[in-house]
Amino acid sequence: MNASPALPPFLAACRRQPTAHTPIWIMRQAGRYLPEYRKVREKVGFTALTRSPELAAEVTLQPIRRFAFDASIIFSDIMVPIEGMGVALEYAPGPIIAEPVRTMKQVEALRPLVPERDVPFVMEAIKLTRAGLPAHVPLIGFAGSPFTLFSYLVAGKPSKEFSVPRAFAQAEPEIFARLMDRLADAMIVYLRAQAGAGAQALMLFESWGGLLGPNDYRRIALPPVKRIFDGLKDLDVPLIYFANQCGGSLESIATLDVDVVGLDWRVSLGAARKILGPARAVQGNLDPAHLFAGPDVLKSRVDEVLADAGPGPGHIFNLGHGIWPETDPDAVARLVDYVHEKTARK
Ligand code: CP3
Repeated sequence: MNASPALPPFLAACRRQPTAHTPIWIMRQAGRYLPEYRKVREKVGFTALTRSPELAAEVTLQPIRRFAFDASIIFSDIMVPIEGMGVALEYAPGPIIAEPVRTMKQVEALRPLVPERDVPFVMEAIKLTRAGLPAHVPLIGFAGSPFTLFSYLVAGKPSKEFSVPRAFAQAEPEIFARLMDRLADAMIVYLRAQAGAGAQALMLFESWGGLLGPNDYRRIALPPVKRIFDGLKDLDVPLIYFANQCGGSLESIATLDVDVVGLDWRVSLGAARKILGPARAVQGNLDPAHLFAGPDVLKSRVDEVLADAGPGPGHIFNLGHGIWPETDPDAVARLVDYVHEKTARK
C-alpha cells in the first residue's frame, strides 16, 4: 500500500491509512517548556491568554515554528467552556473552582453552553490559527470528558486521588448523573462549534477516568462519552479519545465509535491494539520522563514504542501524557526528527 498523497500524515493515520512517516505531536506542546511561551506568560495571565484569539493562536503556532510536528492543538484548557457555563475559576496553575459544585441547585444553575455566545474567542483562535498553519499540519480541537470535568468541579482543585468527587459519585448518584448529563450536552455543542470553526480532528481528554475501576468506568464514565461521540459522528473529522490510565477498561473503550484511542505509557500499544481491534488507530505513548534520557537512550525508548505499535498503519506518535515544563526543547527536536527518520517509508 502506498502512502495517501492527498491527506496530511496525521489525518491519514487517524483513518488508519498508510503514511510517508509516522506522524508525531505531543500533548501540551504549547507550554512552559518553551522559552517563547514563558515570555508571553510573563506579560499575560493564563485566563487572559485563553481569551485572546491573537495570543492563543500565537502560542499554538510557537511549537510548529520550532519543530516538525505533524499536528497542532488549539491552545486553550478543558475548563474554558466550564467558565462559559458560569463557573468562576482561576488557574494556579491547575484549575481552582471558587465554589465547588455539589448541590442539585448548583447543577441546575449551570448555563447551557452556547459556544458562540459564551466562548466565542475559542472559535476565533481556531480560525486565526488555521490561517497561520502550513497545509500539512492539521489543527486539533478538544474538550474534557464529563468525568474529568466533574472531578475538577466537585473537588474544586487538582488532586491526585480525587477522593471527594469519587465518593460524591457514589453518595449522590442523582446529582452526579444530572451533572454528567449537563457536561455531555455542553461538550457536544462545544466540539461541534470547534469543528465548524476549522478544527480538523476532535479530541476528548479522559484525564482522570483511570481512577475508576473497570465496573465504575463502564457504569458511570463511559455512557456520557458514548453520547458525546454519537453526537459528533455526522461530522467529517476524526475523533480521538485520550484514555489516561484506563488500561484496565480497554474492553469498554473498544465499544466506542472513535477513530483513535490515546494511551499512556502504562499500557503496551500492542496489547491495547489487540483489544481495540483493527478498526482503531492508537496514539502514544512515550513516558515524558524519557525525554530526560541521553540521545541514545531516548532513541532506544522510541524504538520500543514503535516496535510495540507494530508495522501496520494507524499509529500517531505522542507522549503518554503532557510534556513536563522542565523538559529541554532540544530533546523534543531530537524526538521529532528521530521518529520521522526511523519511520520514513518510500
Ligand atoms: O499544547 C496543548 O496541549 C494545548 C493546551 C492545553 C492546556 N490544557 C494548556 C494549559 C490542553 C490540551 C489542556 C488540557 C487540560 N487541562 C487537561 C487534559 C490534558 C491532561 O493533561 O490530562 C487537563 C486535565 C487540564 C486542567 C489543567 N489546566 C491543569 C491540570 C493545569 C495545570 C497544568 C500544569 O502543567 O501545571 C492547567 C493549566 C494549563 N493548561 C497550563 C497550560 C499550558 C499551565 C498554565 C500556565 O501557563 O501557567
